[in-house]
Amino acid sequence: MKAILAEIDVNAPIPTDEHNKQYYYIKKMQTVLREEELKLGHKVTACINTFGCQMNARDSEKLIGILEHIGYEVTEDETADLVIYNTCTVRDNANQRVYGRLGFLHSMKKKNPEKKIALCGCMMQEPSVIEKIQKSYSFVNLIFGTHNIFKFAELLYTMYSSDRMVIDIWEDTDKIVEDLPVERKYPFKSGINIMFGCNNFCSYCIVPYVRGRERSRNPKDIIREIEQLVAEGVVEVMLLGQNVNSYGKNLEEPMTFAQLLQEVEKIEGLERIRFMTSHPKDLSDELIEVMKNSKKICKHLHLPLQSGSTRILKEMNRRYTKEQYLALAKKIREEIPDISLTTDIIVGFPGETSEDVEETISVVKEVQYDNAFTFIYSKRTGTPAAAMENQVPEDVVKEGFDKLLKVVQETARSRVGRMQGQIQAALVEEMNEHDTSLVTGRLSNNTIVHFPGDESLIGKIVDVKLTECHGFYYTGEMI
Ligand code: 5AD
Ligand code: SF4
Repeated sequence: MKAILAEIDVNAPIPTDEHNKQYYYIKKMQTVLREEELKLGHKVTACINTFGCQMNARDSEKLIGILEHIGYEVTEDETADLVIYNTCTVRDNANQRVYGRLGFLHSMKKKNPEKKIALCGCMMQEPSVIEKIQKSYSFVNLIFGTHNIFKFAELLYTMYSSDRMVIDIWEDTDKIVEDLPVERKYPFKSGINIMFGCNNFCSYCIVPYVRGRERSRNPKDIIREIEQLVAEGVVEVMLLGQNVNSYGKNLEEPMTFAQLLQEVEKIEGLERIRFMTSHPKDLSDELIEVMKNSKKICKHLHLPLQSGSTRILKEMNRRYTKEQYLALAKKIREEIPDISLTTDIIVGFPGETSEDVEETISVVKEVQYDNAFTFIYSKRTGTPAAAMENQVPEDVVKEGFDKLLKVVQETARSRVGRMQGQIQAALVEEMNEHDTSLVTGRLSNNTIVHFPGDESLIGKIVDVKLTECHGFYYTGEMI
């Protein structure tokens, strides 16, 4: 990366190729930053606050990569000279949290007028949000969306040259810019985007509107990126996409997700492969077969159910029935008996009755999930479900939600406990937050185990005896 920067001449015309153009702006920003540093009298600091899912977490790593190349000192403290919120909008409470925190940033900016505030991510793809920020949060300096984060250096350059709010939102894109800087949070594991966007249009979901149409990265670029990561010490990768099971359909030379996994499996030095998220309608027998025979793919599948009622599933546009989902879960369990299944469930979708919630509960009991993320339905303006007339009253939703949560917790507890006394491989991820004599590791099936150890174990895969189950996690000892 340094070599690329050294070759760039900032006095030459702006490169037309997007990749070189962004390095050009990184270099331009280095000069701007030096001027800022002189003006402020200290090293310029930047802080990114990330909301939402793993996609956003990965995007933030890319933003941090660019910030560090420019020369910012990246901190976790929002008193920084530049604060960026990478936002989520999948449920309304995510939006409300951002508005709440913006008030707090405003009070800091009143004391320090030089402070810069930037907003990006899914929430910014909604025109109503932009209107509201322009009207009520005019102290914000820069707004960009999900499709143009690759031009962050260029956007920062524009921001420092302007006195007004800079807004750059793209409705959609077919562009994927490769090989820009990225700064990983963990040295030993990493997320990798294999595709962007979603074409499913589940009727409650805003993601297809804010993340655009589905596009897959070229397998060669994915493999090259993983090989590079492994060379830097990464042992576990998480392949990321809204619907990884439809990977490769729009490539010039189409390939399936199962085929991509087989290619990733071949990478020497890589120990573990995870992926997220699978849509049940697209999960193929080929994938089950590949998972079954793989030595590296983790024994964990996140398979969002959303609802166990066929009637509601139809309204949600999920394109499977309760019976089809159950048959799929059964097949997976038969082929890969020790696998953990986890899921997402929404309660309170328009028109949902207590009988529908009972159907969902019956699926939870039958599938025996290791964990289930339960969400209260949130009305997202612009989605088909938002226009449905039979929205469920809050107290009815709450009742169904509590009932479901109880069953989810009971089944998860008994399911996680099945490994008591076993010896399993764990990737040590960090020191235990509460007890510094312990480290925290993750099993292949995603269960957490805490056991005595020190910092030297972080990033290593070790065998651990699972001595005691505490509901959702284990304590153990290294063998
Ligand atoms: N309301 C509640 N939950 C939602 N999800 C997506 N959209 C909504 C919504 N409008 C949930 C789904 C999805 C997860 C990431 O978020 O369960 O799988
Ligand atoms: Fe949203 Fe459905 Fe796409 Fe998942 S598959 S991101 S729930 S539209």
